[in-house]
Amino acid sequence: MRSLITLATIVLPFVSAKPASSTRTCSNHGKGHKSSLVSAAWYAGWHSADFPLDTVSWDKYTHMTYSFAETTPDVHVLSLNGSNPEVLPKFVETAHKNGVKALVSLGGWTGSRYYSTAVGSAANRTAFVKTVTDLATKYKLDGIDFDWEYPGTQGIGCNAINPDDTTNFLTFLKQLRAHPVGKKLILTAATSIFPWVGPDGNRLADVSGFAKQLDWIAVMNYDIWGSWSTAVGPNAPLNDTCASPENQQGSAVSSVAQWTAAGMPANQIVLGVASYGHSFHVNNSVAIKDSGSLNSYPAFDADQQPIGDKWDDAAGTDECGNASGPGGNFDFWGLIENGFLTSNGTVAPNIEYKFDSCSQTAYVYNTTSQVMVSFDDAPSFAAKGKFIKSEKLRGFAIWEAGGDYKDILLDSIRTAAGAA
Ligand SMILES: *[C@@H]1O[C@H](CO)[C@@H](O)[C@H](O)[C@H]1NC(C)=O
Ligand SMILES: *[C@@H]1O[C@H](CO)[C@@H](O)[C@H](O)[C@H]1NC(C)=O
Ligand SMILES: *[C@@H]1O[C@H](CO)[C@@H](O)[C@H](O)[C@H]1NC(C)=O
Ligand SMILES: *[C@@H]1O[C@H](CO)[C@@H](O)[C@H](O)[C@H]1NC(C)=O
Ligand SMILES: *[C@@H]1O[C@H](CO)[C@@H](O)[C@H](O)[C@H]1NC(C)=O
Ligand SMILES: *[C@@H]1O[C@H](CO)[C@@H](O)[C@H](O)[C@H]1NC(C)=O
Ligand SMILES: *[C@@H]1O[C@H](CO)[C@@H](O)[C@H](O)[C@H]1NC(C)=O
Repeated sequence: MRSLITLATIVLPFVSAKPASSTRTCSNHGKGHKSSLVSAAWYAGWHSADFPLDTVSWDKYTHMTYSFAETTPDVHVLSLNGSNPEVLPKFVETAHKNGVKALVSLGGWTGSRYYSTAVGSAANRTAFVKTVTDLATKYKLDGIDFDWEYPGTQGIGCNAINPDDTTNFLTFLKQLRAHPVGKKLILTAATSIFPWVGPDGNRLADVSGFAKQLDWIAVMNYDIWGSWSTAVGPNAPLNDTCASPENQQGSAVSSVAQWTAAGMPANQIVLGVASYGHSFHVNNSVAIKDSGSLNSYPAFDADQQPIGDKWDDAAGTDECGNASGPGGNFDFWGLIENGFLTSNGTVAPNIEYKFDSCSQTAYVYNTTSQVMVSFDDAPSFAAKGKFIKSEKLRGFAIWEAGGDYKDILLDSIRTAAGAA
């Protein structure tokens, strides 16, 4: 479940001891970029045949992150094998030709199994600094994105895990920054919506050490609700403080509040946003209220998990050997292809639609197939762009670049955030 990297992904203002890279990332945004706003996306290497490099709207991005180099049992080895490694050199070359910074993301949902051991001892940290800087040098990267899902807490189900994960991670980052190659890299982290946990299992109260080493964090504010939840809910809520208490599972608002309270400056937080939604099988009787509008948190039938679009993961066995159902994900283009939306991204005829005013995200429902999808449409991306501007966040990062359709989402968030 590659796209499920995402089982809860997001990130914080400024520190004088910050590495020189922060100046560097602000000073060179490529052609046509007037502000220092980060306009970023992850480029999934395994989708490169369907979403070739020459179809990326490079001129609308400042940073693009190739995904993933996965951790392996050997601290000396990162594996790009699941992500078309042969495309990476061309990715970097094309990004550079367009004045866009090229990063590689390490880890992801399936690729974080050996992060804990890679930073688990002084000898391994030294080896891992070499592994990471060698990767950056080999591929002429501008930066590295650490997508560890998650330090100190289990992700996919069979990750190595250690109470000292976050402590070791920070020690590693300091060592990487002290390295002549590491010092010049843009270093980012794709994070859970709330701060990582410390040795006591509680969320870190002080992440300022990470703020000194990382250029920014991208808080993965998606997969907040999905097939694993007790009810349907918004994939990527902008807000949840306006929801009833049982429906407050996290949002961009609560994420930014917690990371900043722990010492991550707002201008070092990039909002991770989703160009896909989650589907659910919902009976007509519970999908639609007496008023005729859609329910935001109806019960769903887990035994009838819909299959998503053609990029969706089929049912099978995951990397831990556990059975996994179909992902049920629909990319934004997949909602158009499957009849939920018209080609301009608005609701199709004979489809029920709701814009949930608290999460500021959209729902569509086909009363015949009884499939409901919670997702982000252009108004949802505009609301998030406005939030980035009003909270003075660093920018946005889209999982994933190839999920959009004719830049409907990208144009919406860029305009609202003030990039366009
Ligand atoms: C990746 O694939 C290559 C070529 O098949 C192989 O030599 C290498 O061992 C693989 N790497 C990993 C980490 O699996
Ligand atoms: C160091 O890395 C090796 C793999 O390269 C691993 O077997 C070992 O357990 C790691 N040590 C620690 C303390 O995590
Ligand atoms: C989130 O909801 C709270 C409570 O209704 C409201 O005060 C706040 O303005 C909302 N924030 C955003 C960004 O929508
Ligand atoms: C949906 O309807 C079926 C058949 O009437 C019923 O067995 C099932 O429990 C219902 N599921 C939900 C979530 O309401
Ligand atoms: C998945 O498999 C691992 C063993 O590989 C097991 O420890 C874990 O509990 C399983 N997770 C789930 C969610 O079943
Ligand atoms: C709703 O689902 C039914 C059954 O799968 C399908 O035949 C129909 O085309 C769908 N409606 C729309 C508007 O796509
Ligand atoms: C989107 O397309 C629909 C039908 O194709 C049309 O009715 C609607 O006016 C269009 N909306 C916009 C904003 O272009």
